[in-house]
Amino acid sequence: MSKVHVFDHPLIQHKLSILRNEETSVKEFRELVSEIAMLMCYEATRDLPLEAVDVKTPMGIAHCQHIAGKKLAVVPILRAGLGMVDGMVAMMPNVKVGHIGLYRDPETLEPVKYYFKMPPDIQERDVIIVDPMLATGGSAAAACTFLKEVGVKRIKLMSIIAAPEGVKCMNDAHPDVDIFVAALDEKLNEIGYIVPGLGDAGDRIFGTK
Ligand code: PRP
Ligand code: URA
Repeated sequence: MSKVHVFDHPLIQHKLSILRNEETSVKEFRELVSEIAMLMCYEATRDLPLEAVDVKTPMGIAHCQHIAGKKLAVVPILRAGLGMVDGMVAMMPNVKVGHIGLYRDPETLEPVKYYFKMPPDIQERDVIIVDPMLATGGSAAAACTFLKEVGVKRIKLMSIIAAPEGVKCMNDAHPDVDIFVAALDEKLNEIGYIVPGLGDAGDRIFGTK
């Protein structure tokens, strides 16, 4: 079964409280999504393997550790996932980025794929999918399926807010995928929005409403 990690760090929770506020401007919303992604990135990469390295300082040799060449990729689900990429790249400047374009059919809530572009060696990389909202879970589950179809073996999912329905969907479809969230909310409403959530993440990031 997927592990769900809820990040209760005070900085993340404080920023999330501003993010949820309907009065928050597009500019501030974008900045907050990026900053929360950056903070979540610390925790979601906690298990990266390290290796010993000796570094010559002006005063002598320091026995240090650096990341052991782990191949990673960040994969945003378009559109809203794009808002989390800057924060991830700020922490991991050389990380490769793939893109999956999905939108939810407003009637069926089923994900519809319109774009899929990955780094050529994606099957050798550990992937962190980023998407601020895990609602029904249909988009995240489809993204995992598409990545597994091209040979990706290890996937993590990072979302800012999740609904219990989305976590269950991921547990059923992809029990091997660990989920990292800043909040686990109460429920979905009748049109598949997370309550209390923050509204439509894509619209709030791109100012399309
Ligand atoms: C939103 C969100 C997720 C999806 C979550 O995208 O960014 O991708 O909904 O819902 P689900 O868990 O029920 O699949 P949306 O389809 O609104 O597209 P957008 O990002 O282009 O606005
Ligand atoms: N997508 C969003 O952007 N918000 C929700 O609450 C659910 C899906």
